[in-house]
Amino acid sequence: MSKVIVIIGSPRKEGNSDILGRRVAEGAREAGANVEVVYVADLNIKHCTGCLRCNLVKRCVLRGDDFPAFAEKFTASDAAAFVTPIYFHWMSSYLKDLIDRFRSLMHVQIKPDDLVHTPMSKMPRRCAFISVLGSPREDDARAVMRFFRYITEMWHGEVVGEMIATKLAVRKQVGMSEKELAELFDKMELGANLAKPYYQAYRDCLARAYDMGRALAAH
Ligand SMILES: Cc1cc2nc3c(=O)[nH]c(=O)nc-3n(C[C@H](O)[C@H](O)[C@H](O)COP(=O)(O)O)c2cc1C
Repeated sequence: MSKVIVIIGSPRKEGNSDILGRRVAEGAREAGANVEVVYVADLNIKHCTGCLRCNLVKRCVLRGDDFPAFAEKFTASDAAAFVTPIYFHWMSSYLKDLIDRFRSLMHVQIKPDDLVHTPMSKMPRRCAFISVLGSPREDDARAVMRFFRYITEMWHGEVVGEMIATKLAVRKQVGMSEKELAELFDKMELGANLAKPYYQAYRDCLARAYDMGRALAAH
């Protein structure tokens, strides 16, 4: 049975990242995987201090937080999904703090013409990413998606899915019924006629998240 970890970077429970992340988990679980959902905002993760001692001692020297337990789970996983809201064109600060600590999972050599990253542990083979944002355009999420591809490549993983979920701001919005959306858009003076196309777009996002979970679970 493959192990899948779904890492949710939004502090907002029942928010759009949470709903999409749980849909990924559902797809993976129904495809037979052992799934764990991790809410980064619920963990105590210290900021990386930039000491770079990890490159010498091959582990993070910071103590007294949840990173070691998280790292153990992460490196034992066959597949990982990262789900983040877009905050000012980047991932949430919760997720950024966690990912900075990933530096301690890599050995880095500065060669004359290249920066060579060698993972010090087994890393998840299959990875998938979801960015969730308010804008109707995908531009604000592009840098983050590029970054996720880059780290997956760094640990020789395979990208099995990616999605930028746009036009999402209100809590639970991605999971709302067409009627709830019509009421919401009416209240926001956007026009209830947006409900139909947006509802369809959100349904597509949920279906893609589910399929992503299945792809993560695949052997
Ligand atoms: C601090 C902050 C910064 C944001 N920056 C952006 C942004 O740069 N582009 C954008 O389209 N949406 C932006 N948003 C909107 C969020 O991406 C959007 O509300 C998303 O649905 C939040 O995900 P959640 O529902 O999982 O909390 C921002 C929201 C916050 C709170």
